[in-house]
Amino acid sequence: MRFLRCTALALVGCVFLSWLHPRRTMRAAQVPADPGATSHSAPPAVPAVTWSRQIAPLVYQNCATCHHPGGGGPFSLLTYQEAFRHGPQMAQVTQSRYMPPWLPAPGYGDFLGARRLSDEQIALIRRWVASGMPEGDASIAPPPPHYDATWQLGKPDLILTIEHPYALAAGGTDVFRNFVLPYPLTATHYIRAMQILPSAPQVVHHANVLIDRTASFRRRHPADWEDGIPGMELELDAGNTFDPDSHFLFWKPDTPVLEEPAGMPWRLDPGNDLILNMHLKPSGKPETIGAQIGLYFTPEPASKHPMLLELEDDRGLDIPAGDRSFQVQDELELPVDVDLFGIYPHAHYLGKELEGWAILPDGRKQWLIRIPDWDIDRQSVYRYRTPVFLPRGTVVHMHYVYDNSEDNVHNPNTPPIRVRAGNRSVDEMAHLWLQVLPVNTAKGSPDPRLLLEEAWMEHRAKRNPGDLIALYNLASALAGLGRYAEAAADYRQVLAANPRDARTLNSLGAALENAGDSSAAEKEFTQAIALGPDNCDAQFNLAELELKRSQFAQAAEQFRDLLRNCPADAGAQSGLGVALLGEGDSASAEAEFEHALDLDPANFTALYHLGEMAIESGSPERAVEFLQKASAQRPDDVDTRERLAMAYAQSGRQADALTQLRAAVQLSPGDANLHALLSQVLSAAGQLQQAIEEQNQALHFEPNDADGWNNLGVLEARLGHTAAARADFERALQLAPDHAQARANLARLPRQ
Ligand code: HEC
Repeated sequence: MRFLRCTALALVGCVFLSWLHPRRTMRAAQVPADPGATSHSAPPAVPAVTWSRQIAPLVYQNCATCHHPGGGGPFSLLTYQEAFRHGPQMAQVTQSRYMPPWLPAPGYGDFLGARRLSDEQIALIRRWVASGMPEGDASIAPPPPHYDATWQLGKPDLILTIEHPYALAAGGTDVFRNFVLPYPLTATHYIRAMQILPSAPQVVHHANVLIDRTASFRRRHPADWEDGIPGMELELDAGNTFDPDSHFLFWKPDTPVLEEPAGMPWRLDPGNDLILNMHLKPSGKPETIGAQIGLYFTPEPASKHPMLLELEDDRGLDIPAGDRSFQVQDELELPVDVDLFGIYPHAHYLGKELEGWAILPDGRKQWLIRIPDWDIDRQSVYRYRTPVFLPRGTVVHMHYVYDNSEDNVHNPNTPPIRVRAGNRSVDEMAHLWLQVLPVNTAKGSPDPRLLLEEAWMEHRAKRNPGDLIALYNLASALAGLGRYAEAAADYRQVLAANPRDARTLNSLGAALENAGDSSAAEKEFTQAIALGPDNCDAQFNLAELELKRSQFAQAAEQFRDLLRNCPADAGAQSGLGVALLGEGDSASAEAEFEHALDLDPANFTALYHLGEMAIESGSPERAVEFLQKASAQRPDDVDTRERLAMAYAQSGRQADALTQLRAAVQLSPGDANLHALLSQVLSAAGQLQQAIEEQNQALHFEPNDADGWNNLGVLEARLGHTAAARADFERALQLAPDHAQARANLARLPRQ
């Protein structure tokens, strides 16, 4: 079986925007003077609050992660002297809950690492300040925490480094820069944690990492990718396989590095690129920005496959100047049960109240997040302490309120102006990202992420008929679900708006081919090739179609053409081998298969055919080698297992042959040929009774097989079951009167 190639598009990159110099206005309420301090009747019985006993532990726990030398806070709070200097301010900002920074309201989602002081803790600081900030007994103070400026989880397994650091000017607007870091290893690895380490963290507002599975971004910028590409929103080509983005790879100064949940590492394959998208803020002096990405591996492949979903209402954003309560919303019904692991709300400077909730199928409202007073500079990904279960039929809601009045201290425009959605820093956004893991998936049902993708893209395309990426991705999801006719209809809609899009023509061709209409498919592939002579996927698909029609010379020509455009395409190389085999030139075919394996040692077609050729040329050990690898690539391919069993049998490894055949029968229980083969191997191993059973099975599925009856007769005769053997040979002769062997076998049976 061959897989048709078509691509899914991923519009990734949560777009993070920032205004040049947001006014940082203190929102700290004035702290009323401590009544205890001013009262004439100060209760002396209250034990003194000291730095050493109560405040140092509190500060080390809740403040020092940012407030240490080199940290993200503006000053250190590690020593008594430092805390003393900032004491009154500490009382103010904790009282107003301006510090520690934490946007979500309590009670609207239980998040990991929630930074929130209790009322008692706030009161302690207030009392300490009011009583003159005594140090107390220094010998009982805990030792200050130690912060490693480099790798939080120890030395990473792999460190990627930006080759060409970026020169950030002293002033000017914010800069969004994308650095491509090719994944340099030749094997797949699973990543349990990642840390981004900028060389000048003070000017990096935040960063996020995208995985470009097909190196499409680098290919689109062949000349300048090494120097970094400006821009905030990237469109990446996701390649042939449905492999949606699944993890928030997000970094802000002083966020602790989190390990991915158990069973949910993310994956890097050879040929992938990491794209580091950095938001840089000029600091007043020129800076050179480099960065390293540290990756921590785990040997365990992912056993759970989450996915990111987005609610958004950018089109709804058209905020009149002065409007202090402009609202947008979106909602999405979930087609499958999921666990919600994380959530990432996003708006710019006018965002005020950001809410996400779910209406469960029983009508109950489940809060997911509520941010009553949004601040873009404190945006973050929030992970739930325990995943939130959302059953199928749940409707997830996003509801955002924007304040475009002068009272909004973050408003970048004075006086306010009309603001709409967009990529520029003067524009707004309304996004809510969710990381969900499908659960309770019934055995044998399709990949639930495809159903989520279908629901999501259908919703997007319905809301905005001009959203061609949504329509394209909807079509690809439908094709992935085997609903080819629907997929073709949607691809056609994309083409109606954009008739010269070679990628969509190719994908439409693949859907038509899968739907069984290969002449219509041929038309689309041909048109795609005509539009873009280097459309290797369309060339591949057309060549495969010609192979299927046994047009070997044409197919060979098409593959050769393709290889001129994409010389490293192992699939085309092995396809050329198949075409040459069809033309009868097995020597050249063998060379092509070997070349394909040089390009990709796991190329199934090459492994399979080299194995088959080795069987035919009487080199069963060589055949075993190839076919074992082929079967590892596609463990469910019955044909490969059958060949492998033959190779084992030829090399005298009967037990291995039996194992393979039994596995093949499990996969395809109604395959008469497999039962017959199994019978032969059992018979060669001397297990005649079992061999008879298997041959009976074969005849059960193919009762008119004269050879089969003859073979059964031979087995019965060897066990001395003369009468049964006679009946079998006679049956063979009934079906094929000139079956010479059956006649001879019948004649050789002893008389009764
Ligand atoms: C996640 C990082 C982080 C944590 C945790 C944190 N701070 Fe801050 N703090 C900052 C940053 C960044 C600023 C400066 C700009 C701002 O206001 O965001 C700041 C500013 C301050 C200021 C000065 C406010 C002003 O008037 O400009 C005080 C005081 C302060 N923090 C105290 C605390 C205390 C006390 C704690 C613990 C209870 C704490 N911070 C926890 C990051 C942090």
